[in-house]
Amino acid sequence: MPESNESILGKRKKHLIASAVHYYKTPVQLVKAKGQYVYDQEDRAYLDCIGGIVCISAGHNHPKIKEKLLSMLEKNEIQHTTLLFLNHHVTDLAEELLKEAPNSIDRIFFTNSGSEANELAFMAARNATGETVIVNLRHSYHGGTAAALSSCGHHTWRFKAQPTAAVTSAMEPYCYRCPFGKKPDSCALECAKNIETTIQTSTHGKIAAFIAEPVMGVGGFITPPTEYFHEAAKIVHNYGGKYISDEVQTGVGRCGGAYFLSKELGIDADIITMAKGLGNGAPIGATLMTTELSNPLTGKLFFNTFGGDPFQTAQAKVTLEIIREEKLIANAKAMGSYLMEGLKNLQKNHSWIGEVRGRGLMIGIELVKNLETKEYATAETAEVMEIAKNKGVLFGKGGLFGNVLRIAPALSITRGQCDEVLKVLDESFFEAKLKF
Ligand SMILES: Cc1ncc(COP(=O)(O)O)c(C=O)c1O
Repeated sequence: MPESNESILGKRKKHLIASAVHYYKTPVQLVKAKGQYVYDQEDRAYLDCIGGIVCISAGHNHPKIKEKLLSMLEKNEIQHTTLLFLNHHVTDLAEELLKEAPNSIDRIFFTNSGSEANELAFMAARNATGETVIVNLRHSYHGGTAAALSSCGHHTWRFKAQPTAAVTSAMEPYCYRCPFGKKPDSCALECAKNIETTIQTSTHGKIAAFIAEPVMGVGGFITPPTEYFHEAAKIVHNYGGKYISDEVQTGVGRCGGAYFLSKELGIDADIITMAKGLGNGAPIGATLMTTELSNPLTGKLFFNTFGGDPFQTAQAKVTLEIIREEKLIANAKAMGSYLMEGLKNLQKNHSWIGEVRGRGLMIGIELVKNLETKEYATAETAEVMEIAKNKGVLFGKGGLFGNVLRIAPALSITRGQCDEVLKVLDESFFEAKLKF
């Protein structure tokens, strides 16, 4: 007999820390997964449109990954070692990932998570420049460790007394809710210029780095225009800073143009960080940088016990191979466009849909109570998610006020599955509307 949800909820309440939250009024217990689907303890299938949180790139329990891990166990391959010893899995992955990176980036280090990848990025930028200040963006999220959290632009993720020394925030490039009250076609990129104003007004005139996500994940898949990043990189470099592109969510081809979105958009990044979909669910992150940033690290020790672990790096390498062999980046582009078009059609029938945005298979649907005032439809978003879950489709949620539905399925999603997503969403909107 599987353990009941009530029993698990009781134990969570008793044993886990108070900030451990779950999705849904009636939460889902997940025990099994295959391809695009996850299954609860009663073997009920759900089409997974969020993949943990944007971690499933090749599909759940892909046969090639299973085969690789089982064969490693069968051969008694070493499960744990560190970079203090030699092992080929880490260098095999390094070599393959760097082939996908922009030309200037030729060094890599593996971590367990995206937060740690960003910690290393900050440290390397500070070490190379001799400067301390990191410029981040309001509405961004870069992780839960000390330096990463201090660059988090959401009150919901910040805790009391969390130090935020040596960081400053620039305005968000959020066209739907432009902080300057402008329209994208006539704005002259004031948001990018604000990076310069921020440096001029809240630093001594030089910075260590600027960090930005090319699509702002936790922020609700905010999708700034490409030129924003070009302008931002120019400003950052003019003020002596390094550009950190946080690709923890956008990496691995999710956005449908290249393995790294920074490369596709031509962002002049000095450092790229990644995690999530890199290992298709394995806990692995990576910091990629230029030799110019890596060289000044010489003579000091930077160590991560599990970073570069043979099983995690092997899983990430197979994931990359699957993405290449099954042409999943092209599929992300095709299915992303198909979903986007379908969602824009839904927008005509559902007045809560303020904006549909995103790149490839990273699509956000921002819900508002009123299209003119753009009042956040937080409870409505939760209700649509709940109804869709009961109909067998799992969405994610994001945005400063939890009013953005997030769609980020495995890159192998099919057209038929996209149709299922659109149908369930359409029905869920109609049913949710009756409750408000
Ligand atoms: C853009 C971005 N950077 C960093 C992180 C932190 O990654 P992790 O949770 O693996 O530490 C996240 C996590 O959601 C993220 O979305």
